[in-house]
Amino acid sequence: MTIEAENPRQPPSPARVRTSSDIEVTTYLEIAKEKAGVRPAPAEQKIPVTERETIIVLDFGSQYNLLIARRIRECNVYSELVPFDMPWEKIAHLNPKGIILSGGPASVYESNAPLAPSYVYEGRLPVLGICYGLQAITHQLGGKVIPAAKREYGHTVLHISDRDSPLFAGLDEAITVWMSHGDSIQEMPPGFKAIAHTENTPLAAITNGKNLYGIQFHPEVVHTPQGKEILRNFALKICGCKGNWTIGNYIDESIAAIKAQVGGDKVIVALSGGVDSAVVATLIHKAIGNQLTCIFVNNGLLRREEVERTFSAFRLNLGMNISFVDGTDRFLERLKGVTDPEVKRKAIGEEFIRVFEEEATKLGKVDFLAQGTLYPDVIESALSGSTASAKIKTHHNVGGLPARMRLKLIEPLRYLFKDEVRKVGIELGLPEEMVWRQPFPGPGLAIRVIGEITREKLEILRSADFIVMNEIKKAKLYRSLWQTFAVLTDVKSVGVMGDHRTYGYLVGIRAVTSEDAMTADWARLPYDLLARISNRIVNEVSEVNRVVYDITSKPPSTIEWE
Ligand code: XMP
Repeated sequence: MTIEAENPRQPPSPARVRTSSDIEVTTYLEIAKEKAGVRPAPAEQKIPVTERETIIVLDFGSQYNLLIARRIRECNVYSELVPFDMPWEKIAHLNPKGIILSGGPASVYESNAPLAPSYVYEGRLPVLGICYGLQAITHQLGGKVIPAAKREYGHTVLHISDRDSPLFAGLDEAITVWMSHGDSIQEMPPGFKAIAHTENTPLAAITNGKNLYGIQFHPEVVHTPQGKEILRNFALKICGCKGNWTIGNYIDESIAAIKAQVGGDKVIVALSGGVDSAVVATLIHKAIGNQLTCIFVNNGLLRREEVERTFSAFRLNLGMNISFVDGTDRFLERLKGVTDPEVKRKAIGEEFIRVFEEEATKLGKVDFLAQGTLYPDVIESALSGSTASAKIKTHHNVGGLPARMRLKLIEPLRYLFKDEVRKVGIELGLPEEMVWRQPFPGPGLAIRVIGEITREKLEILRSADFIVMNEIKKAKLYRSLWQTFAVLTDVKSVGVMGDHRTYGYLVGIRAVTSEDAMTADWARLPYDLLARISNRIVNEVSEVNRVVYDITSKPPSTIEWE
């Protein structure tokens, strides 16, 4: 993912600045649930906090904020991102050991600028302010922040003047850091001293010598190569965390929470073949065994061998209850004559809900639906107001189901990042192939056959896609690419094979790198690999006589063609 300038996204609610703990603040999770039309989860759904230590990240709106929590977790310390004005009572149960004030797009000297709650400055816990967070500390404790004479953006060299500071333990005197700020500190608050500087920023890191630290650069981005060491120093050396949070702990906590929440009731989960639903199903199966039924719907839009592989992995290897529905005919019937991508998505989503409900009804009374919602989805859906973001594509999973079927939701991955989900999958013993499967969209091949979908076109696409996958795997590139696939266009072109004129389909190849699908770059695949893929497709798939490689990134394109 390319790192861009901080976006102008506003912090959660400028109206709720200078909050004190008696103001009612809705947490991200509650907001997300409200938006999803989900009843508040029973108290037991909270992962039991045993010995777990947490670094709290107060979110002032920078686009890098999730990365802070992620880097801290990479240091084996649990971390959660919460709104900047979250009252102490709402974080105390997480056993906080330190607080990070994140970056953000505002300027502290503006009226209504978001500021940290008073508990941050009461000396209860060590605090690290990053970028805007540093400016908030400065402003709130009596220093002065002004617009920088020269905006500093990009790489710069940080000189560490206090080599004894625990924040910089183990680092060289000069390190490369990433800056992205328009304001800077003119005067430190009383009692503070500078501990590092850059050419343009004399006060690039400051401390009060006790437990308050502030840094102007961003340690969470990869462009600050030793940034993780700085965050580790903060969590372990300054906050005294033990660094004992592991995926194994998470699994144990989740299993206990699921048992407590479900009791003797029944749970259903939609299996897609993807890693998220696979991990959800496996976790829940470990917790409650055959009280779980997986519903696996073949919508006729899956790739070659996908149905067989998924089915055998779950039923044969993991011994789960699976109700399998071959919905090919009804889905394809429903898609007849449909060419508009959004209409395709809607039709598939609705048909899926129908099939799913029919299957669930056969199971008698079911109380819970399990879903593979991930942490970035939770944060994203909490932050993007209903009118704030333009709809680019509708992403259907099983949206609408819980409310319609009066099901309660179980979302055991809602605190995890994708790479952590993969770790859970490995730890649970899922096959590597499943754990490392590239994402595949819910509407499947329907959005990769451009225009109307027919059985013939789906077969052509399956054959071409199978070759792409096969060659990418042989070249050992599968894991390093976010997604790789073939697209069947509705363009036909003239070619020549032997002495004959051909008139065949044009196939597009898409391969992208990405961290989270929000942005993506087209992969610079080796020419000879592209040549092999192209040769094989035109030779082995008789209906295709031309292959093109998609060299657009997202934005301005999207990953899928429809
Ligand atoms: P785009 O094409 O929007 O895709 O750049 C971003 C990521 O989302 C996947 N995708 C979907 N997933 N239902 C899904 O479950 C959908 O309708 C859908 N459309 C796109 C896409 O494969 C990529 O990983």
